[in-house]
Amino acid sequence: MIPPAPTPPSPVVSVLGLAPVLPVVVLPDASAAVPLARALVAGGLRAVEVTLRTPAAPAAIRAITDQVPEAVVGAGTVLTPGQVDACVAAGARFLVSPGWTEGLLAAMRGCGVPFLPGVSTVSEVVALLERGVREMKFFPAQAAGGVPYLRSLAGPLPQARFCPTGGIGPANAAEYLSLPNVGCVGGSWMVPPDAVAAGDWARIEALARAAAGIRGSA
Ligand code: 3PG
Repeated sequence: MIPPAPTPPSPVVSVLGLAPVLPVVVLPDASAAVPLARALVAGGLRAVEVTLRTPAAPAAIRAITDQVPEAVVGAGTVLTPGQVDACVAAGARFLVSPGWTEGLLAAMRGCGVPFLPGVSTVSEVVALLERGVREMKFFPAQAAGGVPYLRSLAGPLPQARFCPTGGIGPANAAEYLSLPNVGCVGGSWMVPPDAVAAGDWARIEALARAAAGIRGSA
């Protein structure tokens, strides 16, 4: 008897709707990808952004896609149209960029998965809204003005919604999540490089569990 084909994962509609906290992962070696993703999922964080800051990233995305189906893996630090195609081919279900250009935006629009282009100024936000994009990464969040800055945008630009990232951790994540224009926060605090290097998945699972419990107070 022919076994039934595996059910394809349902498409991601909104990156901001995946989870309140999006772990940002830097992997020196793709062999860590699967145990790391399993630890994050076990701790309650099922969305994972693997950044393209290391050459291991596409193989890591492919490994998580194939071996950790309960995770929703995306690609971060996407900077070129070529990377857009490579990440989607590797199985990325969403894309994140620290900034955007017309060329990058065109590639992201055409790739078939949702994306978060990065902004840090009001004019960049307005330019994305003008192009029909309402979900954005706010980067580098703390350095670019943090919670007061995003709160100031909610009045004139209520249609823009953000995933602030950069300098966020357990001490300030809830404050960001309380803002009406924040859908989720991104950060690397639950994936310390020394824990990844040591293969300390129990520590990462515990950090993920604590992060998964963070909610906005509003
Ligand atoms: C990112 O790429 O989104 C940030 O570098 C993550 O920022 P963090 O390390 O300060 O959390």
